[in-house]
Amino acid sequence: MRSQYCGELRSSHIGQEVTLCGWVHRRRDHGGVIFLDLRDRDGIAQVVFDPDTGKHFELADKVRNEYVVQVKGFVRARPEGTVNPEMGTGEIEVLGKELVILNSSATPPFQLDEHQSVGEDVRLKYRYIDLRRPEMQEKLRFRSKITSAIRHYLDSNDFLDIETPILTRATPEGARDYLVPSRTHANNFFALPQSPQLFKQLLMVSGFDRYYQIAKCFRDEDLRADRQPEFTQIDIETSFMDEEGIMGMTEKMISQLFSNLLDVELGDFPRMPYAEAMRRYGSDKPDLRIPLELIDVDDLMQKVDFKVFNGPANDPKGRVAALMVKGGARLSRKQIDDYTKYISIYGARGLAWIKVNEIEKGIEGLQSPIIKFMPADVVMELMERVGAANGDIVFFGADQAKIVNESLGHLRLKLGEDLDLYTCQWAPLWVVDFPMFEEDDKGGLTSLHHPFTAPSCSPEELVENPEQALSRAYDMVLNGCELGGGSVRIHDQAMQETVFKVLGISDEEAREKFGFLLDALQFGCPPHGGLAFGLDRLVMLMTGTQSIREVIAFPKTQSAACVLTAAPGEVGNAQLRDLHIKLRKVEKAAE
Ligand code: AMO
Ligand code: AMP
Repeated sequence: MRSQYCGELRSSHIGQEVTLCGWVHRRRDHGGVIFLDLRDRDGIAQVVFDPDTGKHFELADKVRNEYVVQVKGFVRARPEGTVNPEMGTGEIEVLGKELVILNSSATPPFQLDEHQSVGEDVRLKYRYIDLRRPEMQEKLRFRSKITSAIRHYLDSNDFLDIETPILTRATPEGARDYLVPSRTHANNFFALPQSPQLFKQLLMVSGFDRYYQIAKCFRDEDLRADRQPEFTQIDIETSFMDEEGIMGMTEKMISQLFSNLLDVELGDFPRMPYAEAMRRYGSDKPDLRIPLELIDVDDLMQKVDFKVFNGPANDPKGRVAALMVKGGARLSRKQIDDYTKYISIYGARGLAWIKVNEIEKGIEGLQSPIIKFMPADVVMELMERVGAANGDIVFFGADQAKIVNESLGHLRLKLGEDLDLYTCQWAPLWVVDFPMFEEDDKGGLTSLHHPFTAPSCSPEELVENPEQALSRAYDMVLNGCELGGGSVRIHDQAMQETVFKVLGISDEEAREKFGFLLDALQFGCPPHGGLAFGLDRLVMLMTGTQSIREVIAFPKTQSAACVLTAAPGEVGNAQLRDLHIKLRKVEKAAE
């Protein structure tokens, strides 16, 4: 039906007859001449209808925004003074000769350029219209380029694309499962996969050697700007490769992707042990574009007579850290109060600070609500430790280490953004040497990654000192976002059983939940490992988008619903009966 996409037309087409199909983006009546901006997935072309085209002119007069039309006409140069350098097609226009209305359109719930004035719920309800917007088209087109480039890279490195089941058993990745009731097995449920983790390991047992899949994963967890309940992983697993090999190969994949699609050279990714990342940045996914660092001052604060500080400084689980901001003395009281409030979300009970006005004057040259509680020599030693000079501000956090890390870590990011402290555009790194386990709320241990991650010590050492054990896991971080994570896996049954034991998973429970894996490990399981990237996050970063929902065609809302199809929805009694389900009365449906 068409000879070209609208957006393809250039001055090289001048004089040619073209047939275009698309949506009426805008219609303007300029004193007897009708202009139609015709839009398709490639862009917009301006079409002009003169009255001498008779019935076609009359039709052009009738069309409204979002009508679908076919236009036949000739490409000509735009008259001088009307060239639009902002548009790809801005040098030309199409002199329309014939117009066919292929379909009309009701008035859309919002005009494409007015998407900002309607709520996101409206955009999501009419997502098919929202997706007509050139920015959304561009993002999804870019997403497709990314997956195509990734497939090309992995295919040419001998990876096999193999699908794994969606109806399966729970794979523990730390979130709640989405469950699907079985009709044929009364009172039994499938779990949707939180990741293809166990299946990809089984594929290694089968000898496929290199696997990948662009896989849907499902996690019922608290949603944030970079999380969706249903998201996509670029999932990778290899046999006979150690962490060096896996990190090297996937780093090259991401580097090539940035180079080919964005013309950005990421360079070699630095490696940072987890402990160092937490100490210097309060985060296991530090944004290295921001030069601020947390500096330990526990030893100095042990001596002061200020309970807020000396308590955590003397507590093995506590931490007192400083964050020095060059030029930060210009922050107003109100701004400091706002930052204090901001970090209270992370449990901080306050935000102490010292402004440096005239360091030459010693303690007299400082301004702070806390120095009155401290000996002058300690304060000056503090200033020297953090390297503070006139015009700087030093913030302090004192609490349980977890709270200090989270609050100062987030303050660091916020200050970086507010004061535009970025030193570069892209800062990738690998975080390595993660602990095997972390303490959960009940004082037990949970896996920091997942329980199939290999420790870097023997089973005996692991049992002896599980809190200190490190794992062979690695995360790829870009601009403070965890882009991907993986590990070398346990390929030895005894080691896997030991890890389950340390996690407090009984033999029966391990058998019941993961018997198939433990069995498989007995039958010649090769050493193997892999990782998974979050595709949505990758697209988000590469397109400079703030919300994950902007790079997914049909995302869920913040409350994990699909407003377009009104899912999740109620089901009829007959269907419930088939599934052997009886509903309990709920006061009010969860929001
Ligand atoms: P992990 O749980 O770290 O590892 O997930 C891998 C990557 O997936 C992305 N991701 C998400 N993206 C959007 N919404 C979510 N809710 C979400 N959760 C995770 C992140 C993350 O880095 N099986 C292991 C991988 C392995 O060991 O090979 C796994 O799933 O970018
Ligand atoms: P207060 O004695 O509670 O008024 O606190 C004095 C200063 O210390 C204020 O600036 C508080 O914001 C700050 N502060 C209080 N608790 C903490 C904490 N746990 N960490 C850092 N600063 C704190």
